[in-house]
Amino acid sequence: MDVLLCGDLDAGEALAWQQALSQALPELRWHDVAQARARPEAISAALVANPPPGSLQGLPRLGLIQSLWAGVDRLLADPTLPAGVPLARMVDPAMSQAMAETALWATLALQRDFFVYARQQRQGRWQQHPQRRADEWPVLVLGQGAMGGTAARALQAAGFPVQAWSRGAGAAALQQALPRARVLINLLPLTPATSGILNAALFNALPRGAALVNLARGGHLVEADLLTALADGRLSHAVLDVFGHEPLPPAHPFWRHERITVLPHVAAQTDLRSAAAVAAANLRALRDRQPLRHLVERGRGY
Ligand code: GLV
Repeated sequence: MDVLLCGDLDAGEALAWQQALSQALPELRWHDVAQARARPEAISAALVANPPPGSLQGLPRLGLIQSLWAGVDRLLADPTLPAGVPLARMVDPAMSQAMAETALWATLALQRDFFVYARQQRQGRWQQHPQRRADEWPVLVLGQGAMGGTAARALQAAGFPVQAWSRGAGAAALQQALPRARVLINLLPLTPATSGILNAALFNALPRGAALVNLARGGHLVEADLLTALADGRLSHAVLDVFGHEPLPPAHPFWRHERITVLPHVAAQTDLRSAAAVAAANLRALRDRQPLRHLVERGRGY
């Protein structure tokens, strides 16, 4: 089986993927974009890590696009993405677990004022704040997919009162949940329906001093609204792992904002050690004409 491997992978990473998958499926033959262009009719599957637009056009026998990323918003925004080809996103329990760890870390740090203490250390200031209990620190998780669901369960197990919302629950349910949330964690897929959902109207519905944790996509957040909400005390802190432009440009105000914690898109990285088996299972299913897993509904956007 001839497979195109392309996207956000350096040479070493690409080789590691090839080796891991060839171990599971020795018949695989690997192609990069240039090699696929030379023999487009040979390619029957593509393994892609957030590839640049245009990478997948002109492959007449493509039978599967397997994303190595959980989020497929960039792929779906590519007008040259072949229309009829099944597209699968990466759903890997190890990735969901990593995301749950990040959500838990951010929530604990907010509940126990650890970001405040980090700021105080930079100022050489010794000042103790009242210690809050997890059960008085309600968390609202947006998104109830593999990651949102795993994060919500981990937070609940740690003693936080957790509300979970997904788009299917409707706007009224979100309006009802927001006023209780000390921490708002975003794990929604980025779609036209969720783009810009983290905006002033939503921040204004949170209790004063709530915190935002965006672990999904930069496109969910209206950056100017966040800066305003932090400036006027509506929000106390934001933990951001994802940005409209990545890498976050050096001059961007988020870098040096004392109430924003910036992570370089690491909340849940694809882990080859487990994700290779997920991708291999779908390549095997394609070969054996079995049902493919984790397929994206393109109209829905995830
Ligand atoms: C990372 O953001 C991913 O979508 O896997």
